[in-house]
Formats: sequence, structure tokens, C-alpha cells
Amino acid sequence: MHTIFIIFWATWDLAKRYIFPALYNIYRNEEEQNIDIIAVWRRNFDNNDFKNYIKEKTDGFIEHKKHFDDFLNSITYSKVEINEKEDYESLKKQIEKISKKDTQIIIYLSISPDHFIPFIDNSKILNLPKTSKVIFEKPFWKDLETAINLNNKITEVFLEEQIYRIDHYVWKESIQNVLAFRFANTIFEPIWNNKYINNIQITASEKLWVEDRWWYYDSSWALRDMVQNHLFQVLALVVMDPPSKLDAESISQEKLKVLHSIKIPTNDDLVFWQYIWYTEEKWVEKNSKTETFVAMKIEVSNWRFIWTPIYLKTWKKLDKRQTKIVIEFNEIPNILFKNFWHIEKNRIIIEVQPDESIAIHFNIKENWNSKEVQEVKSKFKKELSSKEAYQKLIEDVIIWDKTLFTTFEILKESWMIVNDLVNCKDNCPIIYKYNSWSKWPEIANALLENDNKKWYD
Ligand code: BG6
Repeated sequence: MHTIFIIFWATWDLAKRYIFPALYNIYRNEEEQNIDIIAVWRRNFDNNDFKNYIKEKTDGFIEHKKHFDDFLNSITYSKVEINEKEDYESLKKQIEKISKKDTQIIIYLSISPDHFIPFIDNSKILNLPKTSKVIFEKPFWKDLETAINLNNKITEVFLEEQIYRIDHYVWKESIQNVLAFRFANTIFEPIWNNKYINNIQITASEKLWVEDRWWYYDSSWALRDMVQNHLFQVLALVVMDPPSKLDAESISQEKLKVLHSIKIPTNDDLVFWQYIWYTEEKWVEKNSKTETFVAMKIEVSNWRFIWTPIYLKTWKKLDKRQTKIVIEFNEIPNILFKNFWHIEKNRIIIEVQPDESIAIHFNIKENWNSKEVQEVKSKFKKELSSKEAYQKLIEDVIIWDKTLFTTFEILKESWMIVNDLVNCKDNCPIIYKYNSWSKWPEIANALLENDNKKWYD
């Protein structure tokens, strides 16, 4: 089957870091190159301008460049202003020109959420066949109400099977491995509950800043950019019950049950920070209240996990890039060893990036002559996946596999959890300040110390 992949906005940071490298990998792995790409943005580029632009911008993100020039030849450029009807007319002509008998059209909307509705209105001009698919990047608008309106609008124009709501974290190899680790082993599932697990920590830290996406980020903030979607998705996979099948519907049902049982967090359950020079960044509002660091306590009020707090934290522009999940188990009843041995609590650590590994920390006696107990960190390190999340995600769209895509019910439930926070008005959390690229702010510790717990680095 021939695919026309249309990417709105093709000059964005996401496009150069992830989408074009993913498309290139798909292209070069195909025996017959059956994909054409239309790059869309509002500048007056011609095809060559865009090719040169994307060649320069993707430098450093593309490996094995042998076929890269051929790949560039599969790209044509189309200028589209989101509200400009004539531009959609010319896009339509461009699609017709390269369409074949068996073409499927995939439109990938990596655009700011306020462009979704204008796109949907104007997409009627494209007269897309019902085999076309539309991928919606997160965040799915900005709060519960706008998300509901958006979904109503989308479903007026597209059939549910044409709609792909994505969260690329779910396609990360180690996140998918959470399911295998939990449900393909008998030894972990019996202890996966509040009787044994003391707390769960999910961290997504970045060194990066948002580069040219300031105007999206300043109205989105870490809460909408990372927590409501990526971190909630990971949380749901870590704590959900076993699905009855590994299909889209069964997994979504279990995720939904988890999200539905989350207690709405209040200002006491979170800490917001902004790095010190944030408001000096080019284009950022001088009095911006955007948080670039969130730490949050989540309580899941279900039978399995009530009393096991889950702590989420995410930030930009600190000292390292790391995404990981730490499962800390309860203390042993320290009757046997309490006088002379310090015993670390058992932990399972799932590292998502930059490395991919699963580690189990447990205790053994150090050696014959000593009474000390030593913690052993047994680690299974995976070869780094040869496919990045976005490549797998796009391949799933091409073959109509919806197993990992997010349903609107899940998005709605996620918005409900943070809806008061994103609309806080007079009762917003205090925003503390932190130094860029420093170690993370001390004040984050209080959230856990109040519960007599500590963060794991
Ligand atoms: C995106 C966010 O969804 O995820 C970005 O909008 C963030 O702000 C990115 O940098 C992180 O993704 P990854 O795969 O690099 O961890």
C-alpha cells in the first residue's frame, strides 16, 4: 500500500528530533519505498528550500545517512496557513498529484492545540477518503471542557477508526516492558500491591529547554506538557490490573479504571518551580507563571494501591536527562537484624532513558567475617532499542494497529484529575525558583519527607 504522510508543522522541534528521523528509518527499511511525504508549514518555501532546511536541522538526529538524499526526494513542501482556505485547496491538489490507486493518507498534527479546530474545519476542503487517518499530538487541548469540545468537533468530521490520539511515551521500549515484566512473570504480580509496595516514583527529567516551542510551552506548562499525558500514561501501566487480553480495548479499560480512582490532587500535593532565568528567555512573558518543574503526589484509591503514594516529577533544564520508575518495597519487620545491620528497602528500578534497564535491589550478607548486610543491585540492561518510539508509532498507524493509542475516555479522565489545577485562577500553587542545570531543588524533598519517604536519584 502506498502512503502519503502529511506533517503539520514540519519545521517544529519535534519534527526534526523525532518525526523526520522516524520517517527516514521507515523509508530506508522498506524494500520498495512506498511512502511520500508532504511537509507543511506556513513559510513560503519551495521544495528545495525545505529539503535544505530539514537536512541541516536533522543533522545529529539521523544515523546511517546512505539513503538520506533519496529520502529527501520523497518530500514535497506545501505552504499552509492554518486558517487559509486557499492553502488547503493547493494542498489538496498536491495530494491528488502524488496519489496512487492504493494510497492511504496519514495526516500528522504536531501543531499547537489551538490549531486543531481550525484544521478540522478546513480539512473538509481536502475531501479526504474515509481510509485516511489523522494523528493528534498531545496535549489534547488545554482542559476538560476544551478537550470535550475538541473531541465532539473531531468526531463530527472523522470516524473513530480514523482518529489516532497519541502519547509517544507508550511506545518507548521500557514502558512496554512494564507490561511484560508484570504480567509475564509469576514472581512479581503477587507483591504488586499496597501490602508490599511502599511507594512508586516516576521521574522524567530533561536537560533540554523547549527551543523554538516557547509559545506553545509558555501556555502549556509542565503540567499539560508532561504530567497530564506522559506521566499519567506511565502511571496507569505501572499500577493497572492485568487486562484480559493485550488488545486496545482491554488495556484501555484497565488504564481508565486506574485514572478514575485517582484522588484529585490539591496544592498540598504538589510543588511547582520555574527556573530562574525562564522569564528572561526570548519571547516568554515577563510575569509568566509557567512551571518548568513539577513534583506531585498521587493517591490511587483502589483496593490494590490505596495507601501506596505515587510521586511524579518532571522538569526541564536541570542537570541530566533521565526517565525512570522506582518501586520501593516496604521495610522488613526489622526484628532479626535491627541492632547491628542497616537494611535498605528492596527496590525495582525500571530505567526508560537514556539507558534501558531493569534492576532489582536486594540484600545479602556481605561476607563470612562480617555481620553487615550488603545491598546488591542486580541489573538487566537491554540493548538500546533500534527503533525509537515515534518510528513504532508511525508504523502502527500505517498498519491500522490501534492497540497503544489513547482513547478519548482516558484523555477525559486525565484532564479531570488536573482540571482544577490548570484553571486555578485565585488559588494557584506557589511557583518557586530553581537554578538551570543545577541539581534538583531541595524544596522538592519536603513532599516526600512529610510522608516519611525519600526520593531516589
Ligand atoms: C514531548 C514534550 O511530548 O515530550 C516535550 O512536549 C518533551 O516538552 C518531550 O521534551 C520528551 O520526550 P522524550 O521522548 O525526549 O522523553
